[in-house]
Parts: sequence; structure tokens; C-alpha cells
Amino acid sequence: MIFNETLGLLLEKTQEIAKEVGTFIRKERQNFNLNAVEHKGFNDLVSYVDKEAERQIVDKLSLILPEAGFITEEGTNTTRQEQFNWVIDPLDGTTNFIHGLPIYSISIALMEYEEVVLGVVYEVNRHECFYAMKGGGAFCNDTPILVSKAENLAASLIATGFPSYNFEQIDKYLAALKFLMHSTHGLRRLGSAAVDLCYVASGRIEGYFEYNLNSYDVAAGALIVKEAGGTITDFSGGEDYIFGRNIVATNTQIHQEFLTELIRIWS
Ligand code: IPD
Ligand code: CA
Ligand code: CA
Repeated sequence: MIFNETLGLLLEKTQEIAKEVGTFIRKERQNFNLNAVEHKGFNDLVSYVDKEAERQIVDKLSLILPEAGFITEEGTNTTRQEQFNWVIDPLDGTTNFIHGLPIYSISIALMEYEEVVLGVVYEVNRHECFYAMKGGGAFCNDTPILVSKAENLAASLIATGFPSYNFEQIDKYLAALKFLMHSTHGLRRLGSAAVDLCYVASGRIEGYFEYNLNSYDVAAGALIVKEAGGTITDFSGGEDYIFGRNIVATNTQIHQEFLTELIRIWS
């Protein structure tokens, strides 16, 4: 098992790396040309900025923990190792980035075997660096963060991610949105799953749910939510939320109420 001291050093280095690459992303956005947009699939956009940011992150992380493998969105390095793997989304919120909507982030997690032990999410334009290591609490720019104290859905603001390419479960999803519109303070779609999770962690919103996600969208943010006192499950209340493609994250207080309604609507 990795020692806390080593993890603490890795956490500091990872924040530095996220901020350095964030500077690159901000700079590239200034003269970004729409001709640089590529389509990985229907509504699945990417550009050289995502790819170059990932290459830089992988190169830098390789130096600080040479024995670790990688799970990366853009496939820069796909070498998996048994004990340690970095899980990286170099630009979470690519569609926002391309359109010039300033909500996007860099998400980096370190997994030890099946467990996330370190997470950093850097919100590039707000210069907010959210981070946590297992058992060490959660922080934003060195200030401890905690989830909100709201006690029920009626007092909650909820974020989600709209489906954009797989519409198989759209009817259930719209039913869930309809229910939540009637029973909460409102719904938000920010466009970066990692930011959604960090906003649950910092008490700006009470809950977040989405399906069709990947491990690199949620691994870092999930640890940050847990370390801030939140609760995360998959849509059935289980633990398969990193690789299971769906997630419900809350301030803990509203989790059971939210999940009960989601299970009723989704089944
Ligand atoms: C996307 C964002 C978005 C979520 C999508 C993700 P990307 O990641 O996190 O908020 O709704 O499901 O794919 O493609 O911008 O890295
Ligand atoms: Ca993503
Ligand atoms: Ca991405």
C-alpha cells in the first residue's frame, strides 16, 4: 500500500501538472480555430488541444511515478499496470471549450488496484484546483471543502449531463428530469462531469446524476466528493460508479431520497 507521505507528494506534483497544462489550454483557446475540430463520433468532438494536453500530462506523470500505468481518454498511453494506474481526462468539457463556453477542467486520478487514492480536478478558467487524497479530506485551492447541509430534494439544486449520442434511455431520463423539475430548486447542465462532482463536493449544488460516463470523467471527482462528506453510488445504489457508466453523487443527506425516486423512475 502506498504511504500517505508519498501520496501527499504525488498530490502536490499532480496539482502543479494540472495547473501547467491548464495554462496551455487557456492559451490555445485564445486563437482557437473551429477548423481544428475533429469528430470521433456523432457529437463526440475533439481537437489537438485535448490530445496535446493529454500528451503533456502523461509525460509529466510518467516522471513522478514511473511504475504507474494509464487509462486516458485520447489514448496517448494505454499501458495498464496491476498496482497503480493514472486515470486522465485532459479536457473535460470539450464541447464547451470548442464553443468558447468557459466551463472545462482537467481531471486526473490515481488508482491503486481498484481504489482511487488521489484526485485532482482543475477548473481551467476559474483557476480552481479541487483535490483530495484518500482519508485526507477535500480541498479547493488549499481551503477545505464540505458538501452542503441541505436536508431534502426540495431544498436542492441538481446538476446532470444531457445525453448527446446514445438516446436509448431518453424516456426514463426525461421522466427523471420532469420529476426533479417539480421537486427541487432546479436543474443545471454545466458540461463537465468533473466540475459537476466538484460542485457537489464544495456545496454549490446538492446532487448530480448522469449515465453513459467513462472512468476518466468521474474517478478524480468521485474521491473529492467522498472526502468532502458526500455519497456516491451507481443508479442502483451499488458501488460500480467508476467503470459502471452511471453515477449519483450527493451531499449524503439527500442520497436516499434521490436514489429511491431514481430507482422508481429507472426500473
Ligand atoms: C463530457 C463531459 C460532459 C458529460 C459527457 C462527457 P468530454 O466529457 O463530462 O459533462 O455530459 O458525458 O463525455 O467529452 O468533454 O471529455
Ligand atoms: Ca470527459
Ligand atoms: Ca475529454
